[in-house]
Amino acid sequence: MVDTKLWSHLPADVCAVAALGDEDRIAHIRAKRWIDYPHAARVLWRLEELYVQPRSDRMENLLLLGRSGMGKTMLIRKFARQVTLDLGEPGIVRLHPVVVMLMPHDPTAPRFFTQLLRAIGVPSADSCEAIMPREATILRLLSEVGVKVIVIDELNSVLAGTARQQRCFLQLLRWLSNELRVALVGVGVPETRHALMSDDQLRSRFMHLELPDWQEGEPFTRFVTQLIWSLPLRAPSRVNGRRLTKLLLGRTGGITLGVCKVIERAAIAAIRSGQEHLDLSAFERDEVWDGVDPGLPPLSVARRTVRVRPG
Ligand SMILES: Nc1ncnc2c1ncn2[C@@H]1O[C@H](COP(=O)(O)OP(=O)(O)OP(=O)(O)O)[C@@H](O)[C@H]1O
Ligand SMILES: [Mg+2]
Repeated sequence: MVDTKLWSHLPADVCAVAALGDEDRIAHIRAKRWIDYPHAARVLWRLEELYVQPRSDRMENLLLLGRSGMGKTMLIRKFARQVTLDLGEPGIVRLHPVVVMLMPHDPTAPRFFTQLLRAIGVPSADSCEAIMPREATILRLLSEVGVKVIVIDELNSVLAGTARQQRCFLQLLRWLSNELRVALVGVGVPETRHALMSDDQLRSRFMHLELPDWQEGEPFTRFVTQLIWSLPLRAPSRVNGRRLTKLLLGRTGGITLGVCKVIERAAIAAIRSGQEHLDLSAFERDEVWDGVDPGLPPLSVARRTVRVRPG
């Protein structure tokens, strides 16, 4: 029997994990976890505000921007989870007040609706244009599941379309917002802003919010400390010095993905070596930094060239 009181540096829920064997603890480190920070809390608060707005002819929408790897997708998933939890027990009809969909790479209406219907679990939504339900059916399906907010992740994919495809897509967004009276949340890298700029009506209805790159300061130190506390290492880590902050920010470019990746790798190495804690020396090993580059979104699979082709 392991005495969990030995690990008073850990929160109670992490103590239970710290009692597990090495491989289970490593699996826990590799799994995703949510760490709160002020910018994320502010975005969540704005999303909540959009969610509770009454349906009207002029819905407020939001464009959430941030560099690749800053944590946009994690944030909108957290918001969708929160809303679903608040709904309590699922009834006969599965409600989808918040629909999170992925913008298709090919920004055409059939592909967009396929993704949208897939996000609410409509099985007939195949990528075949011929069986695409009519607009009226789509509207009925969406209102039956009680959609209030549609989140379109990776909206920047619209920039890969021709100028004509982009225009048609913006018309489609306007139509959705007006007909369905739902709030739209676009999510993407900062260039996504250009996609909406060309449409006056949409531009004035989208509030812009940014998840900025991390900078030196209390919020970053707190984020790193909380992240390290959430990892089941059996000895207390000594990591709140300025040198570590500078190292992390300098080598990751202040991108959340890179920061989390190197800390997780260092923690796994600390378990394997038996050191069981992190200090500056844990970040001096080259392998901890593999693939992390301050100029690029680190280790991201979502990087793609954004190019506007003439219509
Ligand atoms: N609040 C958070 N708590 C813990 N880890 C986080 C948090 N936000 C982001 N991360 C880490 O950063 C990684 C990247 O997050 P995410 O995929 O949401 O970024 P993104 O902004 O959507 O990137 P992209 O634009 O490339 O899609 C996550 O896999 C996770 O490791
Ligand atoms: Mg994402």
